[in-house]
Amino acid sequence: MLTGGGDCPGLNAVIRAVARRSFDRGYEVIGVRDGWRGLVEGHTAALTAREISGLLPRGGTILGTSRTNPYKVDGGVDAVLRHFAEAGLDALVAIGGEDTLGVAARLFDEHEFPVVGVPKTIDNDLSGTDYTFGFDTAVSICTEAIDRLHTTAESHNRVMVVEVMGRHTGWIAVMSGIAGGADVILIPEQPITVEQACAELEKRHARGKSFSIVVVSEGYRLTYDSGEQREVTQEAGLDAFGHVRLGGVGEQLAREIEERTGYETRVTVLGHVQRGGSPTARDRILATRYGLKAADLAHEGTFGRMAALHGDSIVDVSLAEATRELKTVPADRYEVARAFFG
Ligand code: F6P
Repeated sequence: MLTGGGDCPGLNAVIRAVARRSFDRGYEVIGVRDGWRGLVEGHTAALTAREISGLLPRGGTILGTSRTNPYKVDGGVDAVLRHFAEAGLDALVAIGGEDTLGVAARLFDEHEFPVVGVPKTIDNDLSGTDYTFGFDTAVSICTEAIDRLHTTAESHNRVMVVEVMGRHTGWIAVMSGIAGGADVILIPEQPITVEQACAELEKRHARGKSFSIVVVSEGYRLTYDSGEQREVTQEAGLDAFGHVRLGGVGEQLAREIEERTGYETRVTVLGHVQRGGSPTARDRILATRYGLKAADLAHEGTFGRMAALHGDSIVDVSLAEATRELKTVPADRYEVARAFFG
């Protein structure tokens, strides 16, 4: 088993479920350290009943994680195949998002690598599944933050801008914004303009409300009526999967709102708080069901597949399908949020 990419609540619950079901079948279970880096460098260790005890509510990952991409390391893929064979492994359960599972899909396709995937990410942007585990916890954390910001916004007659994660999709922003009753939500998929956002706030203030909550997804490009668009990124370069580091749009949006409307505005960036701590009950259950399914697929030798949630059923889909394109927020979901703007 390996866990790759950004950590998220529920990883340990998957590890526990995979191990418990595999122990019951008499298998030995090996943990790979720090995602794909562990197979590139040959860092593996046996997991026993002792290591997996008490894992269900624990955040993070006992295996460690990294954003190492073996396809970007000199001789990386050969090293993965060699270390896997040398350790005498029969199957790999890769727990990750589009990057980690993209590598798994390619290894399966090019080398018939015996891999099974589990869909992890707070961003909920993986195709082939209705939900990834970790997302529900992130949405709960953001919703609680929005609730708390409401009371201080109201006391001070302020606009509060909340910047949430989600990379190039607005799932966290839309769902926590709906749950928290946000007055404006800005996401990458349906970029309303800064002018429109300000008009919504002015409409609300004209109705007698003296405070507002604005939720902005880190991947929202500042968009103007003129048609200009600007992505806000950190200075760090691209990671091994070619991603820019997002962050900072909340600060710029808050400044624009204050200048254009005259309303006193503050910004809160929730950052990695969204990935920390204990998973919600829903994520513990989803992670557990995914883990059991992945163990079953590995046992049957059904490789190149990913455990997935369709409706309320756990099914399996091909890794290629799951990683082909990002799952974006559909227009009708954004419309639900929009009904409460202004
Ligand atoms: O993919 C999960 C995620 O938390 C994104 O929402 C965010 O853009 C990114 O990871 C942050 O990455 P890092 O942990 O490397 O700062």
